[in-house]
Amino acid sequence: MTRCGSDALRHRDLPYNGLAKTPPMGWNGWNHFQTDVDDSVVRSTADAMASNGMREVGYLYVNIDDSWQGHRDQKGNLRPNQKFPDMKALADYVHSKGLRLGIYSSPGPRTCAGYEGSYAHENQDAKTFAAWDIDYLKYDWCSADGDMRAAYQKMGEALQATGRPIVFSLSQNDKLAAENRVWEWGPTTGANLWRTETDISDSWESISKIGFSQNAFAPYAGPGHWNDPDTLEIGNGGLTLEENRTHMTLWSILAAPLLAGNDLRSVSPEILAILTNLEVIRIDQDQLGKEGTRALSLGDIEIWTRPLQGGSSAVAVFNLANHAESFEIPWASLNIPESARVRDLWNHADLPNTGSINLLQLPGHGAALFRVE
Ligand code: GAL
Repeated sequence: MTRCGSDALRHRDLPYNGLAKTPPMGWNGWNHFQTDVDDSVVRSTADAMASNGMREVGYLYVNIDDSWQGHRDQKGNLRPNQKFPDMKALADYVHSKGLRLGIYSSPGPRTCAGYEGSYAHENQDAKTFAAWDIDYLKYDWCSADGDMRAAYQKMGEALQATGRPIVFSLSQNDKLAAENRVWEWGPTTGANLWRTETDISDSWESISKIGFSQNAFAPYAGPGHWNDPDTLEIGNGGLTLEENRTHMTLWSILAAPLLAGNDLRSVSPEILAILTNLEVIRIDQDQLGKEGTRALSLGDIEIWTRPLQGGSSAVAVFNLANHAESFEIPWASLNIPESARVRDLWNHADLPNTGSINLLQLPGHGAALFRVE
């Protein structure tokens, strides 16, 4: 017998909630803080985002992940634990900074870190989140079982019934995602994004393994509904500067959500410059909403392209080797006319019109990103 019972086996397709027309941008503390997140971390992160230029380039959501939950009161209302004394006051504070507040729950009775989930309290919890003025819910499968699509639809319906615009983010491990093919029906749950992969970690192995395996998911992304290869590890210390730039380039060509996962209260100027490169962000946030795909694989060099609104395209070149590589790529091999105007988005420079990308040195694990008009 499944815990979710026959009720949950009913599929009820939901309409689009009108949100996340471009991939969500913001912060999620899990990668850096795990369960060490509290009211003060969230407030000071919002302060940082409102003053360091991130808000201005589009990072709006400040998302609390697992471990905020306390117990239910006598009426079954979920209360935050002592780390979050007043969730509505916290939302008011984050909103006063021109930002939005996100929260986390699970369709199971327990979250992945063992806190109270929303099982059998979906409507009540959605109402609670709306009453706190929450703007984003990450809904993580964790201890749930039974029909995944129906369980997500249940919360999607509960969120929509509140009348508050709440971005709905599905999370589940890669094996369950693959078994259930979440990307095929994600939008029918009212979700705006769904994880495609296992948890990211702070290493080149992790970000490259996840990022370069996204090719097959591209057809499922579009305005309002995105594949989510997980939050960013940029600036967490395990990646070189080049690898951090590659991470940002790869997520942008993939139209992935850009949720910074580092401690923004002590971010270095180099890392901030990577996170706030507006020319790169514009690729991620392109209104056409088409996810990029692998165009060429030449030994250690990978080239990914992404169609952009108005007929331009983005071309990302990645060097997977751990040493510098030199190479030349004729535009013709990417079906790009020789007359195309090309801009290098990391160096903020227009390239001379030579009919090819001529990169003398792309550093090991490095990336270049071009906008081709
Ligand atoms: C995992 C999830 C992570 C994080 C964690 C919290 O299942 O993939 O992103 O949310 O749970 O316990």
